[in-house]
Amino acid sequence: MEVVRIIGGRSLAGTISISGAKNACLPLLAATLLTSETCTLRNVPNLSDVRFMIEILRHHGAQVVNDSPGTWKVTAADIQPHTPYELVRKMRASICLLGALVGRLRMADIAQPGGCVIGPRPIDLHLKGLTRLGCSVSHKNGYITVDATKAHGAYVFLGGRHGSTMTGTSNLIMAAVLTPGVTHIDSAACEPEVVDLCRMLQAMGARIDGTGSPRLVITGVEKLHGCDHTVLPDRIEAGTYLLAAAITDGEVTVNGAVNEHLGAFLDKLDEAGVSIDVINPASIRVRGDRSRCRPVDIITLPHPGFATDLQAQFSAMLTLIPGISLITERIYPNRFMHVPELQRMGADIAIEGPTAIIKGGVRLSGAPVMASDLRASAALILAGLAAKGETWVQRIYHLDRGYEQFDKRLASLGATIERLDASAMPGDYREEE
Ligand code: EPZ
Repeated sequence: MEVVRIIGGRSLAGTISISGAKNACLPLLAATLLTSETCTLRNVPNLSDVRFMIEILRHHGAQVVNDSPGTWKVTAADIQPHTPYELVRKMRASICLLGALVGRLRMADIAQPGGCVIGPRPIDLHLKGLTRLGCSVSHKNGYITVDATKAHGAYVFLGGRHGSTMTGTSNLIMAAVLTPGVTHIDSAACEPEVVDLCRMLQAMGARIDGTGSPRLVITGVEKLHGCDHTVLPDRIEAGTYLLAAAITDGEVTVNGAVNEHLGAFLDKLDEAGVSIDVINPASIRVRGDRSRCRPVDIITLPHPGFATDLQAQFSAMLTLIPGISLITERIYPNRFMHVPELQRMGADIAIEGPTAIIKGGVRLSGAPVMASDLRASAALILAGLAAKGETWVQRIYHLDRGYEQFDKRLASLGATIERLDASAMPGDYREEE
């Protein structure tokens, strides 16, 4: 097991380039199953979730080759429909295979994913959409079996109690592109990652109108062909590095992101008083000066609202800014596992239902803390960068799921941060074996 050790207090400076988006890459990899021809994916990030998804494609019978760094070729000539529990339980996002299997094979037999620390991860909307398409959906022994032999185009309202569903939308799109007839998806997710999937599918011959809007119109086609697609940049990674600059009073330029994908986030950063220079549509510079910053209220919402995947990282910075800030989670109301760990570092935060009430202006102090999920681990590292003294972040396997060489790249910006074996931790910090 590895840990990250940080000595806080250094202001970050320099330039960082953004990798391909994890949350685009997973459905894009699933989409390669929709054709027997070869699909080439470029700008694929080197992440544990991505490597795992590639193993799952191979399990289904696809041939997957790493052509060059970041470039993968997938040929799913002859595939099977079964996705076992031992794979799905390790990465619940593998449910994004459901739509691709239904689209290509007209059937799927996939283990139902469980929840995770950020909350229950239901798939009722995914299954509602497939049922509306005329699929028969059955549950048995923790598996979902879908028979789409009689599927047809239909109208589906896909909105749920928390708004749209990213993976639910991706699944329904992948099922509908090869389903006879016209499918209307209302209250579709508008996230850039869903738009990227639509772009790849259109390059494969799919007929999709309304991409980027909450109303998609999909006309089923007989078959899809191969493609050569470049994964869009990771807006969540970009926002995390911009916050690293803001929280350390540093000056960092982030290259390669699509600024318009960060609208709500940049708006909140600006409202908090962080100095932002948009150098060009793919380059942003942040100059942090916490003495000029002020508290803000954030509500997470589906895109184009403030991304839930950036709230933990933003809350780390708000603990330092004098005044009361509020963060309300409308997507995952329990997504506050980072809060008790930030409190160990001296943060003054109270949780009232879906809202974190942050009494900012404290001086964080380094401490041994425990990562609980991907974005919480990033938040704890950001807090460590600003804290006085030494912070040890344990269970950083969570971090590696969504950030490529996060520690090394922060070090390249001047952070005092290193990845060590857990045995390097002082004795009384170490987790029981
Ligand atoms: C995607 O998860 C992302 N993961 C998440 O990022 C992200 O937080 C989330 O979208 C919201 O933006 C990937 O893309 C792999 P949803 P997803 O379906 O698709 C409820 C990260 O840190 N819902 O958009 O699983 C659900 O409970 C990860 O990178 C239903 O009620 O999320 C949630 O409250 C974490 N029924 C809300 O909708 C359903 O059938 C949004 O979920 C489906 C979802």
